[in-house]
Amino acid sequence: MNVLPQPELNERLAAILAISQKMNSERDLSALLDLIAREAISLLDCERASIFLLDRDRNELWSKVALGSEEILRFDARRGIAGETALTGNIVNVRDAYSDPRFYTAIDDQTGYRTRNLLAVGVRNQQGEIIGAFEALNKHAGVFTARDEDSLTALASHAAIAIETAQLIGELRRNSDELAQQNAHLWREVESRYATHGIIGAGPRIQQVVRLIERIRDSAVNVLITGESGTGKELAAKAVHYNSPRARKPFVALNCAALPETLLESELFGIEKGVATGVNSRVGQFQKADGGTLFLDEIGDLSLTAQAKILRVLQERILERVGGRTSIPVDVRILAATNKDLEAEIVKGTFREDLYYRIKVIHIYMPPLREIREEIPLLANHFLKEYCKETAHSTMEFAPEVLRKLVNSPWPGNVRQLRNEVMRLAACSSQAVIGEEDLWEGMPAPGHDTPQAPSVKVQSLKKAVAEMERTMIGEALRQTKGNQQQAAKLLGLSRQGLINKMKRYAIAG
Ligand SMILES: Nc1ncnc2c1ncn2[C@@H]1O[C@H](COP(=O)(O)OP(=O)(O)O)[C@@H](O)[C@H]1O
Ligand SMILES: [Mg+2]
Repeated sequence: MNVLPQPELNERLAAILAISQKMNSERDLSALLDLIAREAISLLDCERASIFLLDRDRNELWSKVALGSEEILRFDARRGIAGETALTGNIVNVRDAYSDPRFYTAIDDQTGYRTRNLLAVGVRNQQGEIIGAFEALNKHAGVFTARDEDSLTALASHAAIAIETAQLIGELRRNSDELAQQNAHLWREVESRYATHGIIGAGPRIQQVVRLIERIRDSAVNVLITGESGTGKELAAKAVHYNSPRARKPFVALNCAALPETLLESELFGIEKGVATGVNSRVGQFQKADGGTLFLDEIGDLSLTAQAKILRVLQERILERVGGRTSIPVDVRILAATNKDLEAEIVKGTFREDLYYRIKVIHIYMPPLREIREEIPLLANHFLKEYCKETAHSTMEFAPEVLRKLVNSPWPGNVRQLRNEVMRLAACSSQAVIGEEDLWEGMPAPGHDTPQAPSVKVQSLKKAVAEMERTMIGEALRQTKGNQQQAAKLLGLSRQGLINKMKRYAIAG
């Protein structure tokens, strides 16, 4: 260190401190490099200054070609005076550039600038690693002094911190942009999977469910979904959620049957720290679903006490944690599912009528698979495609006799059982066509358990459609007690359209 007269030293230090403050508020790397160069030029009273940063992956130095330019200059990190400084960390002060063998003239050639003299110092980060070189070119009066060496070294150490911060922020920004993009992509996937399209079924029973879900998409009413186990209740609940304005808020599923009575309350409402020894506070499912949807699966299995507590939250929209003193407001939409007959439970006194009416604002009934056998080929092929996609397997198909057997099996476990069976068949079959030999010997025999179950005949499509239309029109008229206007609405037809079809099928009005 050379010794400066005290007032002058103070002046320099104050200038460097002021520059350092400016640098630390610049988060953009390109603008920061310009700022550092500008400040060095005025501090050292020279023509140019630039920072060369070390790219360790490519073992190159790079810098901006000129102030304000986005053009980048790159060269081998072992070249030139900047290279030597970046390698050794030594200060290099050159009085006559072109007579120094280390000087790398190619840069002047490239930029069209003529270097007379230069000063280079290493740029070290706080860990002491060299991250680049700092060069000042062409002192206005004379050559660079020892004082300039000290100033540039001090400036370089402040610059290093600001540069690393800006690089880190740039990287974080790029990562977060990438994450945001991935996130948006995943949301589109989830939405398209459950945007009712996840519910497969071409016939009227399933289509009715799909239309109902679409009809209530803008509301936040509570929905009760009933049906046997494996009929798609949870699938329907997700479709309701992902079609609603709450789609991007949480969907929290809770199986009420799987929880012992003693844990239910803390699971639902959360628990305050220290209620019992060693208990940490925990957020309950109601709070996790805040702003979104809470799916209460197997709600028919809740005890009367638990029912009372849930009802209170639904009525007052606030909850209290176990052992807590404060009330926490919550905004939760409830979707509930059960395979029990809740009206019978009400009669028995095991389900609260008031809770029933609160959750059953809309009722969705998922039919058992044996009642919608016409959907089996579609479902089976859908699951087979899903298997091939998930396992990156080439396409497979069912032999017709296998489909016929699937259609005629009793399926007590409904769609879930069908899905499992298809996955098993696909995994076990070594051929592209799944044949009868792949069928499980234990698979229930056709017609067994449901002797009068209708099977799907192979007939002309036109005839099958006509039959289906005739049945649906008959059913709609029955449901509306012969009101053609209402029946047409149910079927999604105009009244005239309905009358035309009734004439075609000779249905009495
Ligand atoms: N209509 C359907 N279309 C496509 N997949 C279905 C359908 N119904 C049920 N599934 C599938 O069957 C399985 C069981 O459905 P799930 O919703 O869990 O039934 P539940 O809740 O009534 O027991 C899931 O893999 C689900 O995706
Ligand atoms: Mg379920």
